[in-house]
Amino acid sequence: MKGKEEKILFSNQLKKSTLSNECKNFKKIFVLMDTHTKKHCWPLIEKYFPKEYTLTYTIKAGEKHKNLQSVNGILSWLLKNNAEKNHLLLNLGGGVVSDIGAFAASIFKRGIKYANIPTSLLAMVDASIGGKNGIDFNHAKNIVGTFSTPEFIFICPLFLNSLNNRNFNNGLAEMLKHKILNGKVSDFSAKKLSSKNALFAEIKSAVHFKSATVNKDFEDKGIRNILNFGHTIGHAIESCILQKNKNILHGEAIAAGMICELYISTIIFNYPQIELAKTEKIIFSIFHKINLPHYSSLKKYLLNDKKNKDGKIKFSLLKSINEPVFDVLVDEKLIKKSIAYYQRLN
Ligand SMILES: NC(=O)c1ccc[n+]([C@@H]2O[C@H](COP(=O)([O-])OP(=O)(O)OC[C@H]3O[C@@H](n4cnc5c(N)ncnc54)[C@H](O)[C@@H]3O)[C@@H](O)[C@H]2O)c1
Repeated sequence: MKGKEEKILFSNQLKKSTLSNECKNFKKIFVLMDTHTKKHCWPLIEKYFPKEYTLTYTIKAGEKHKNLQSVNGILSWLLKNNAEKNHLLLNLGGGVVSDIGAFAASIFKRGIKYANIPTSLLAMVDASIGGKNGIDFNHAKNIVGTFSTPEFIFICPLFLNSLNNRNFNNGLAEMLKHKILNGKVSDFSAKKLSSKNALFAEIKSAVHFKSATVNKDFEDKGIRNILNFGHTIGHAIESCILQKNKNILHGEAIAAGMICELYISTIIFNYPQIELAKTEKIIFSIFHKINLPHYSSLKKYLLNDKKNKDGKIKFSLLKSINEPVFDVLVDEKLIKKSIAYYQRLN
């Protein structure tokens, strides 16, 4: 199945014309948000959505609510309000809202239309793009989900004004991932991104990179897998820490996962150590070091990774600068070594 090409609209203003134009053909708009985006983001655009055909629903904020229970609430709301195929579910929020909203839209009546208005940096540069959606289930990350393409994605950095630093940095991890895959680690400067113009330009560049990759392989059967770089170990770290009811953000786990997986790339493919060192420096200028769970705790999550085949753990790595590879089998001993390597870093 080839996905239809995504319509991505960039604007550094919140204009009535753009949003009204995109929504004018839908008889009802169902706006999904979380408790934070309801407070900070909805008031910025609410006036553009006439009350008579706009309904809203709010889920609790945070990864731990990206689950079946929230989906249940959303589906019940859609059903109660007679959502139909000529209506639009508008996901206003970070990656949790876009993942769960798109999932609910794709299964309700076997698919109603939806659109994303990402409000976190991570959702702008990554989660809202590419038509992958899903929820966590029994502590396994994104293990239930579908593919479906939004009607449009509206990206406006003005929403980021209310995002706290920790969540802003969270998005930087996925931006850095795109730079590593593109062979442009040296171009990455978190400091430069304090300028609004530079940030907007980098958001656009990250979106173009992701969307060009997705367009080559919508269903993730080949080249799109490169985007999972950092995520095999990263997701295991995230799931494991969340299961212990401790706090970690997706980007924080992925940043640690990228260091481990670049280390593995240096061993298997001779990926330049200097590039690994540059990446570590950037990551530790943004994130604190994490105390990684022991391999014995990570293993069950690694074995549940969506990329695995025949119980074998497959990685997306870097063969050399600007040369990502996927479907690489990695020996358990080397995975352990990469975790020990991360733990030794200062
Ligand atoms: N589908 C994909 O391709 C894909 C890709 C990457 C990540 N993801 C998923 O995305 C999720 C992470 O996304 P995230 O970091 O945006 O998480 P999130 O949606 O939980 O947002 C982070 C926090 O910021 C708050 N927030 C969002 N926008 C805000 C704003 N403008 N002002 C104030 N607060 C705001 C949210 O309420 C939340 O508390 C994970 O579940 C991850 O699995 C999906």
